[in-house]
Amino acid sequence: MKILAIESSCDDTSASVISDGSALSNVISSQYFHAKYGGIVPELASRAHIRVISEITAQALDKSNTSIADLDALAVTVMPGLIGSLIVGSNYAKGLALRYGLPLVPVNHIEGHIYSGCLEHSEIVFPFISLVVSGGHTALFLVKSYSDYDILGLTRDDAAGEAFDKIAKLLGFDYPGGPLIDKHAKQGNEKAYDFPRSMMNSGDYNFSFSGLKTSVRYFLQREFPGGVPAEKISDIAASVQAAIVDVLVGKTLSAARKYSINQVVISGGVSANSSLRAKLAERAAKYGIKSYAPSMSYCVDNAAMIGFLAEKKLLESSGANFRNLKFQVGATALRAKK
Ligand code: KG4
Ligand code: ZN
Repeated sequence: MKILAIESSCDDTSASVISDGSALSNVISSQYFHAKYGGIVPELASRAHIRVISEITAQALDKSNTSIADLDALAVTVMPGLIGSLIVGSNYAKGLALRYGLPLVPVNHIEGHIYSGCLEHSEIVFPFISLVVSGGHTALFLVKSYSDYDILGLTRDDAAGEAFDKIAKLLGFDYPGGPLIDKHAKQGNEKAYDFPRSMMNSGDYNFSFSGLKTSVRYFLQREFPGGVPAEKISDIAASVQAAIVDVLVGKTLSAARKYSINQVVISGGVSANSSLRAKLAERAAKYGIKSYAPSMSYCVDNAAMIGFLAEKKLLESSGANFRNLKFQVGATALRAKK
């Protein structure tokens, strides 16, 4: 089976060709121009998707030596995300579906992230614990199959990536600041400052990161009213990163132990963080738990994860023909079961 997948939920335009669980191509075009505005400008994001989507799709087909006539189906991200951005991808995919008479599988972006680790690691078996951690989401799942998972916890306020980015801004870094905190932290002492590990011992799997941001803001105002001296940046970056990573790793592993699961998978932009990857692997190993983190191009927003899950849906669907193009896009986030 060959599937062409399109992802445009936020500020990355991506297209990928998936065949039998492997990505034959995964082309990503990132909108770096948002940096000068200090965050993503939704209207500019959708316009930028419109400008590149045809070219990115052509490249994905080209790199995988696929012509549209070879395709069995299309897939597209439909939620959650920025409405304008989602509309560009879904209308483009609907256009292709109509023109070429192909089925079109609508895919939830977060579900794409949940299973993205399986794309490169066919040895991952159900059930596993999945931590999806990005600029918009921080959520922990108990994953039982390609169509069944429980939400164990969600962030109550900011996502972890949002905390990285907002704190990075306080330190004078450009958007997105997460990768810059990671870079500076490598030269710093993570024990230099003791920032709060919010909800670490809350007894559940929810997260909260807005308190950390406030705590860092007050700390900077108190300790460095005239501005942060350059020589302190690495220590602050390392200490902030440790506060975020400790909570993410702690909750992920405590969920794995509670449910007696020996595989944990991380995904989403923040899973590119070098300390998160290293600490998770190291601490998981102590409990005999195997940890998986996708390669960078599958951590960030990408169409390969969308196509991968679409293929599973097509294989597992009982009777659904994915010919109904009346589905709508939406900003709706995941909600925990009561
Ligand atoms: O998944 P993603 O590309 O987009 C969505 O938010 O959906 O994630 C982007 C987020 C940003 O907040 C960015 O700062 C963060 O991922 N990020 C990182 C690193 N690389 C990206 N945060 C910490 N360390 C990194 N190395
Ligand atoms: Zn994402």
